[in-house]
Amino acid sequence: MQKERKLIIAGNWKMNKTVAEALDLVQGLKRELGAVKEIDIVVCPPFTALGEVSKQILDSNIRLGAQNMSEQNEGAYTGEVSAGMLKEFSVRFVILGHSERRQYQNESDALVCKKTLAAHAASLKPIVCVGETLQEREGGKMEEVLGQQLRGSLAGLTKEQIADTIIAYEPVWAIGTGRNATPQQAQQAHAFLRKTLAEQFDGAVAKRVRIQYGGSVKPGNAREIMCQPDVDGALVGGASLEVRGFSDIVKNSI
Ligand code: 13P
Repeated sequence: MQKERKLIIAGNWKMNKTVAEALDLVQGLKRELGAVKEIDIVVCPPFTALGEVSKQILDSNIRLGAQNMSEQNEGAYTGEVSAGMLKEFSVRFVILGHSERRQYQNESDALVCKKTLAAHAASLKPIVCVGETLQEREGGKMEEVLGQQLRGSLAGLTKEQIADTIIAYEPVWAIGTGRNATPQQAQQAHAFLRKTLAEQFDGAVAKRVRIQYGGSVKPGNAREIMCQPDVDGALVGGASLEVRGFSDIVKNSI
C-alpha cells in the first residue's frame, strides 16, 4: 500500500518465550519475511533472549528491540538494564512506557521521559507508548489523557530526536482483549497525536514521526488499520508470538 511514511511493524513478545522458543520463532520469521523490503520489521524478545536472537538476525532484514530499559547509565540499580547493555546485543529499538509498565510498575510520564532521553543519548530509537483506558474514553477524556502522556513523555526532546522517536498508540481497552480499535477510532487518535506533536514541536517534524497502533492487531484486521493515513505501523502483542500470525500481519500490510 502507498504510505507517506514507511510502515514499521514490531512484535512485543512481553514475558513469553524461552531462548529455544525465541530461536524457533525468529527462524520462522526469517523464512517467511526475509524478502520483505517495504516494511520495517522489529522483534522485541525478553532480555534473556536478546543475545541469541541478535545472532540469529544479524544478516537479515529483522531488527531487534527491547521492552524496557533503565533511565540510568550504570550503578547500584538492582535488576535494571541500561541502554549501553542493550547496545552490546545490537538492539536498535526500545519500547518505553508500555501501559503494562505504567500500570504494574507505576511508571510516570516523567520517568518515561527520562528513559526516552537516555535512549536517544545512546542512539537507541524509543517506541513511546501512550493510550487511554476504557473509563477515560467513555468519560470523554481521551484527548486530555493522550495529550498529557505525550507531552509529559517527550518533554525536552530536540526536533531531531522527536523525528527519530516512534509513538505507539495503544488504547488499554484493546490490549489482549480481542477488541481492537476500529480503523476510524485509530485514525482519529493518531491524527490527534500528530496534531499535538505539531503544537509541541513543529508541523514539519510531526509529519515525519511514525505512529504505530497497538491493541489486538491480527492478520484479519491489520490491513484496514494500516490503510489509515496517520497509522504508520503496528505494535503487536499476542499475534506476534506465532510465526504465522506475525508474518501474515506484515504480509497483509504490504
Ligand atoms: P495485543 O496485540 O496482545 O493486544 O497486545 C498489544 C500490545 O500491548 C503490544 O505492545
